[in-house]
Amino acid sequence: MERKMVLVLIMVVAVGVWCLASGVSPAQVKSPADFSFEQGKASPGKVAFSHQKHIGDDVKCTTCHVKLFKMKKRSTDTSGGAMHKNTACGLCHDGKKSFALGDKNNCMKCHKK
Ligand code: HEC
Ligand code: HEC
Ligand code: HEC
Repeated sequence: MERKMVLVLIMVVAVGVWCLASGVSPAQVKSPADFSFEQGKASPGKVAFSHQKHIGDDVKCTTCHVKLFKMKKRSTDTSGGAMHKNTACGLCHDGKKSFALGDKNNCMKCHKK
């Protein structure tokens, strides 16, 4: 009897994992519309974020969610240069995976007047 319960439990978990793994594939999940972050006092311009421009072969929903960002607009603390760090946008905008955050020529790729 107990062994049967364990088997059922294993099956339930397996199905759950399968759903999670397939449910977040970019082909099936519509990415949210573009939005912008709250602008900090010192910020040189408002930063918009496009999901559509980020999703690709190498970048899946799980690349950012929920390790880096919650699936909720304006839930991230953007103060104190937090978004520049490698725990946020800086993880990829490092000059290797994508254009570098620290390069003066790139500020306006994110910050718009
Ligand atoms: C490159 C990083 C990145 C990837 C990849 C990514 N997201 Fe996001 N997502 C974000 C950020 C940043 C936010 C906003 C967090 C904040 O403002 O605090 C966000 C917010 C969201 C929100 C909340 C939107 C709202 O209106 O509140 C949803 C839903 C979401 N993402 C779904 C997805 C899905 C589905 C995928 C895959 C198709 C995906 N995300 C891939 C970075 C990403
Ligand atoms: C998982 C890696 C990753 C993370 C995290 C990430 N980006 Fe990107 N981003 C990319 C890649 C890859 C591109 C496209 C290649 C390129 O243009 O260098 C890109 C492109 C962009 C672009 C140019 C889009 C266009 O118009 O072509 C902007 C703006 C941008 N990212 C802003 C952000 C912001 C703001 C954040 C943090 C909220 C962020 N990114 C987080 C990987 C990432
Ligand atoms: C990959 C996108 C990206 C690039 C490139 C980028 N930033 Fe940012 N930066 C952000 C985001 C997102 C925020 C948080 C939203 C805001 O305050 O506008 C931010 C915030 C800031 C802030 C405000 C910090 C605070 O706590 O008030 C300053 C100052 C800043 N950036 C300067 C720069 C400068 C200077 C450059 C170029 C050398 C640059 N940024 C390049 C994404 C970027």
